[in-house]
Amino acid sequence: MKVLYVCTELYPLLKTGGLADVSAALPAALQAAGCHVRLLLPAFAAIAAGVRADAPALPLPDVGGPEVLRTLQQAPMLVPGHVIGTGQRVYLLDAPALYQREGGPYQDAAGQDWRDNAARFALLSWAAAALGHGADPHWQPDLVHAHDWHAGLTPLYLKLLANDRPATPSVFTIHNLAYQGLFPAGSCAELGLPEALFNIDGLEYHGLLSFMKAGLQFADAITTVSPRYAQEITTAEQGCGLDGALRARQDRLSGILNGVDYELWNPATDPLLKAHFDVKRMRGKASAKRTLQRLLGLEERADALLFAAVTRLTEQKGLHLVPPILPDLIERGGQLVILGDGDTAIETALREALACHPGQAVLRIGYDEALAHRIIAGADVILVPSRFEPCGLTQMYGLRYGALPLVHAVGGLADTVTDCSLDAIDDASASGFVFHDFSSDALRGAMRRAFALRRRPADWNAVQGHAMQQRFDWQEPAQAYRALYQRLLVPAGTSAPPVPA
Ligand code: ADP
Ligand code: GLC
Repeated sequence: MKVLYVCTELYPLLKTGGLADVSAALPAALQAAGCHVRLLLPAFAAIAAGVRADAPALPLPDVGGPEVLRTLQQAPMLVPGHVIGTGQRVYLLDAPALYQREGGPYQDAAGQDWRDNAARFALLSWAAAALGHGADPHWQPDLVHAHDWHAGLTPLYLKLLANDRPATPSVFTIHNLAYQGLFPAGSCAELGLPEALFNIDGLEYHGLLSFMKAGLQFADAITTVSPRYAQEITTAEQGCGLDGALRARQDRLSGILNGVDYELWNPATDPLLKAHFDVKRMRGKASAKRTLQRLLGLEERADALLFAAVTRLTEQKGLHLVPPILPDLIERGGQLVILGDGDTAIETALREALACHPGQAVLRIGYDEALAHRIIAGADVILVPSRFEPCGLTQMYGLRYGALPLVHAVGGLADTVTDCSLDAIDDASASGFVFHDFSSDALRGAMRRAFALRRRPADWNAVQGHAMQQRFDWQEPAQAYRALYQRLLVPAGTSAPPVPA
């Protein structure tokens, strides 16, 4: 089975969040499960630098599709190649005027969305659809798997390009429903999308064109990255205004929990750590904590319960719940480290709060992969108090590294962490601390349970041991995706709503 995997980030070449980790690990796991997978990515400078072209570039069909195809001075091309180091097969969508820019993949250096994002990401979907229908005479996928709003038009373009032929089936995965790719209604014509689809049952979201909605209306199957989030997004509370559209397609929606790449996230072998450890040899963990305290200028106290967060600084991540409980956390003898990057207002609020506790609390701003590993290795508790969390990876990394996750009971956090209630401790299923109300008070309660558990070393060690032995391998999710692909291929996927002529 040949699968084209369409996304915008790929660890370690380009990463703004967990999407990149998944794009690196899931295709490899699918490959191991017997699928032939090729990725399609925009040729952002960082991605192009890590890929070696290995076949002649291919042109894109320019009839229909986004106008930008015909207006760029240099025609966009598909470049077959492989990732240097891993050998992963990819196609790069080469259009330097669109993708080779200073700044991020979605925003400029000042944090503003690129003004031509509609054209930039429509072209990615168009290229995916073209490959789906034979743009590469040597390799045609049986199925196209598109990820997040950036690739949201893929299922629709696949159907539009098919004309009278059956369309190549598509799966659309929602990694985060909060980012929807909304553009002015007028973009439809520019993107080659039938005006007839611009209505509430089609592409329209409150007067705007929604790439996310396009993905979930026209894909043959919709998945998201945890079973709990698959349920949550069908409710008004977590549906970001798309819950109705999702409920209407509930029979096509499922949740498949992300996995962890344990080659990269293994405290026994992690090359980014000086001291290694595993569940049977925990001395390295104590040493990782000491090293971290020294590195960050925290007081070197072995008995301090060290809380940590490694996160994007966005409203989603719930970090505004932390400052109100910080004095209490410090008074109880705890310490806090936050590594984050993103919203400057959140950064300022955290900076002010943490600055009141020199030697006990520290904020590091920036994106730092090595420090992320060292923090998760050194911490006793990893904080993930997200308002919502489609899956979340850091809590799973925390489990593996013996940093017990303290999480809000939503999405993948609820699916992966079991609270230290007395009965869960009793039946050895406890792995962390879970709070239910999205409030500082509820977070404080969970924090207090962490201190209480720490005062019972035998129980702490048992919970930590259980946490470290939890496994969220990619093998199982890869099998689930494969089974889903298979269901769509036999008979060929035809049951998504037809596109009006
Ligand atoms: P999201 O994708 O919503 O940001 P995830 O938990 O799925 O959340 O994935 C976040 C990924 O990004 C993890 O690999 C985490 O370690 C990493 N990460 C987040 N913030 C930082 C940071 N400031 N520095 C280094 N790594 C980070
Ligand atoms: C998104 C989500 C996160 C998830 C990641 C990978 O960024 O916010 O919860 O783990 O995608 O699927």
